[in-house]
Amino acid sequence: MAKREESGTEQNGDTTHFGYKTVERDDKVDMVAGVFHSVAGKYDLMNDLMSFGVHRLWKRFTIEMSGARPGQTILDLAGGTGDLTMKFSRLVGRSGKVVLADINDSMLNVGRDKLLDRGYGSNIEYVQANAECLPFADNTFDCITIAFGLRNVTDKDAALRSMLRVLKPGGRLLILEFSKTDNPVLSKLYDTYSFKALPLMGQLVTNDAESYQYLAESIRMHPDQKTLENMMKDAGFVSTTYHNMTGGIVALHKGFKP
Ligand SMILES: C[S@@+](CC[C@H](N)C(=O)[O-])C[C@H]1O[C@@H](n2cnc3c(N)ncnc32)[C@H](O)[C@@H]1O
Repeated sequence: MAKREESGTEQNGDTTHFGYKTVERDDKVDMVAGVFHSVAGKYDLMNDLMSFGVHRLWKRFTIEMSGARPGQTILDLAGGTGDLTMKFSRLVGRSGKVVLADINDSMLNVGRDKLLDRGYGSNIEYVQANAECLPFADNTFDCITIAFGLRNVTDKDAALRSMLRVLKPGGRLLILEFSKTDNPVLSKLYDTYSFKALPLMGQLVTNDAESYQYLAESIRMHPDQKTLENMMKDAGFVSTTYHNMTGGIVALHKGFKP
């Protein structure tokens, strides 16, 4: 296993991390794109296999905490194959709107096909966009979610500021992301599972062990609960909170635009 570095957001002006590798900042976006182009077709299956279906519970809790109501406008950012979009589409109804935005067209295409096949459509828009510079007007959304996406963004501070800008005053941001468990037994089991089982499953199911090695490493490099909460505050969010799930393996952060 590669040595774990201190988790943080950036390294220096020219470099950043891609999992445990130090890479040129400008290269990271293409490297992340490579991961999601490669896994898009089997992404939903792998999520169920890797989490034993528990990602559905994490996402359900996120929806419950979102307070989405009929008529609202929601941004499911880094929404990938659209699990949250599907649920929001029902909640906001015909008078509302959900924007499924992702930087990766392979993930968006899989998501759009899935949602159309299941009869969703009239209140959903699909937008290819980078979280760091969102192509929406100021004060557009009642709620933004970013589930398992922020970890992959090169400039997380810029992304948080961009999300704040497009939220309406009083609107809320929910960040669902892998985080840090402080239970030593769970942490050890989780490390073994992540670095041994995940790449093996990735190899067997998608013929791509490397992308799942990146997944395990990128989780370790992501800021812990308190650091991410402080980043949200620094970006301008208020009334920030977080809620640990599965012993802190995953956390849901929430904050509001003043
Ligand atoms: C692990 S998937 C999560 C998909 C979905 N939200 C879910 O929970 O199943 C991460 C997604 O983040 C997207 N992503 C990565 N960097 C991004 C960026 N800078 N802006 C927008 N989306 C990004 C990827 O393309 C990918 O679809």
